[in-house]
Amino acid sequence: MFKRLKEKWKISWTSFVLVFCTFAIGGSSCGYLGRKILSLTGLELGGLYYTLYIILICLLWPLCVIVVSIPMGQFGFFRNYLRKMSQTIFGLSSKPPKAQNGSFSIKQRNLAIFASGAGSNAQKILEHFKGHPSIRVSLIVCNKPGAGVLQIAADNNVPVLMIEKKDFEQGNLYVKELAKYDIGFIVLAGFLWKMPEAFLNAYPRHIINIHPALLPKYGGKGMYGSRVHEAVIAAGEKESGITIHYVNAHYDEGEHLFQASCPVDATDTPDTLAAKVHALEHAHFGAVVEDVIEGRL
Ligand code: GAR
Repeated sequence: MFKRLKEKWKISWTSFVLVFCTFAIGGSSCGYLGRKILSLTGLELGGLYYTLYIILICLLWPLCVIVVSIPMGQFGFFRNYLRKMSQTIFGLSSKPPKAQNGSFSIKQRNLAIFASGAGSNAQKILEHFKGHPSIRVSLIVCNKPGAGVLQIAADNNVPVLMIEKKDFEQGNLYVKELAKYDIGFIVLAGFLWKMPEAFLNAYPRHIINIHPALLPKYGGKGMYGSRVHEAVIAAGEKESGITIHYVNAHYDEGEHLFQASCPVDATDTPDTLAAKVHALEHAHFGAVVEDVIEGRL
C-alpha cells in the first residue's frame, strides 16, 4: 500500500516519510487548535460544539499542514496536494502540466501513438478522434518494420516515425523529433519497450498505456499479448480485463486511470480470451484518452 502511494505521489522514500510526519503533526495540531478556540467560546460539549468543531477542523487543517510542511521541506508537495484537493471538491478542471522542455504546445493536443503490433487499437483511436475539434493523431511511432500498424498509418495519412532501440534508450533524439510534430500527448497501444527517462521527463503525466489484464496482476517485463492471456488461464482466473494507466519508469506500474473486466470461461483459450479483451480495449481506449486530455479523468 505504501509503495503504491509513493508511486502515485512520485516522491522519494525520504519525502514519503516527511509527508507522513507532516500529515500526522499537521492533523494533531489542527485538532488541538480547534479545541483551544472552542474553549474560548465557553460552549458545552454537545451538538453545536461538535458541529463547530468539525467546521473549524475543515478550515484549519489545510492551514496547519501547509505551515508544518515548511520546516519539513515539503511545501511544494502540499501546495500541489491542496490545490488538487480543492479542484476535486469544488469541481474545477485541472490544467494539464506544462511539458518541462517547453518545446511543444499542449493546446494543439496532437497525439502520438506508439505501436508495434497489428495496430487494432491505433485504428480505433484514429476513428475515435476523426473530426474531433481539437485533438488529432499526428504521428505513429513504430519500432517494428512490417508491423500492421504501418498500413493503418498509411491508410489514414498519418506520418510514421520508425525508431531504433539504442537511440530510443539514450538521449532525447526522439523527444526532439516529436517536438517537430508538436506532440503533446503519447498513447502506447501495443508498444513493448520501456519508456526512457528523456520521455518521462518531457511528458510528465502525458504518456498512457493499455495493458491486456487487470493490473497489478499479470504485468511487468515480458508480460504482453498472448503471454498475458496464457498466464491468466493457467492461473484459473475467473475474470480478466484491461487496465489503462499512466506510464512511469517501471513496466505496468503507473497510476491506474481505468479498468474494465470480462469473464474467463472454462472453455476459453488464449485466443478467445484475447478477443474478449480486445473488444474491451476497442470499446474504451479512445474515450479514456479523450477524458484524460480533456482533464475529466
Ligand atoms: C493490446 O492487446 C495491448 O493491450 C497489448 O498489445 C495489444 C496490441 O494490440 N499491450 C501489451 O501487452 C503491453 N504490455 P493491437 O496492436 O491490435 O492494438
